[in-house]
Amino acid sequence: MSSTLGSAVAVVTGAGGGLGAATAKILGDLGLAVACVDIDEVAAQRTADELKSAGTESAAFGVDITSESAATSLLKAVHVELGAVSHLVNIAGILRRTHLADTDVASWRQVMDVNVTAPFLLTQAFADDLRRAEFGRVINCASFAGTRGYEYPAYAASKAALINLTSSLMFDFWGTSVTVNAVAPGAMDTPMLDRAAAERMSAKTPTGRILDPEDVAAVIAFLAARSSRGVNGTTTVIDGGASLLFSYK
Ligand SMILES: NC(=O)c1ccc[n+]([C@@H]2O[C@H](COP(=O)([O-])OP(=O)(O)OC[C@H]3O[C@@H](n4cnc5c(N)ncnc54)[C@H](O)[C@@H]3O)[C@@H](O)[C@H]2O)c1
Repeated sequence: MSSTLGSAVAVVTGAGGGLGAATAKILGDLGLAVACVDIDEVAAQRTADELKSAGTESAAFGVDITSESAATSLLKAVHVELGAVSHLVNIAGILRRTHLADTDVASWRQVMDVNVTAPFLLTQAFADDLRRAEFGRVINCASFAGTRGYEYPAYAASKAALINLTSSLMFDFWGTSVTVNAVAPGAMDTPMLDRAAAERMSAKTPTGRILDPEDVAAVIAFLAARSSRGVNGTTTVIDGGASLLFSYK
């Protein structure tokens, strides 16, 4: 696949975290230059350094994607370090384990800001680059929780909104080679998942195990490739089959 990706440049948010790092690595292995973006600058740098030692052109950007000027200043900084952007991969996300009674408005807004508003603003800022790319890609990380209700309403609602945003944004790229797709992982072995949930979900998954981030990154790599051009506006659930049998009780 690497030769089909040419001189593409990917921006990966959340690149210091579990799925973001796995995604940055696989896209680097496929021949893309990778901008590793994370609010945790040290973690973003760690991923960028790993990519560089593997021969990938990479740079780290310590950015809070919810800040007002984040998208436009990131665009400028990536242009300086790596060039025009062909792939925007919105992986950064937060989960607050709060229910109706204990979700205050600040917490609700923060979850929405990171999980939906930032992907919207980043797509807006990078849209011209994406349209000019040989084939542009926007890939969003939703969640299985966004495909139905979930006990933490802010998180579930934000991911449902991101799934809808994914389908809706393809209208803005009508007639171009840019596609917009999402992945919706089930339980994935990263710092976001608590250990008790990992045990519970392994037992409920037909493959007998929760996901490794690499399982999801592999699907993102397909969506990033030129050969995925017929796939647009979709959300792919990746959960080892758990949702087919799923019940919260
Ligand atoms: N782990 C799971 O079980 C699971 C399941 C479904 C979906 N997801 C989704 O996968 C994505 C990746 O999560 P993960 O599991 O790798 O967790 P993670 O916590 O390891 O990674 C999330 C990363 O996002 C970064 N981030 C958070 N807020 C940010 C901000 N304001 N600006 C920039 N970066 C910010 C964090 O620093 C972190 O590095 C998230 O969107 C998450 O919602 C995770």
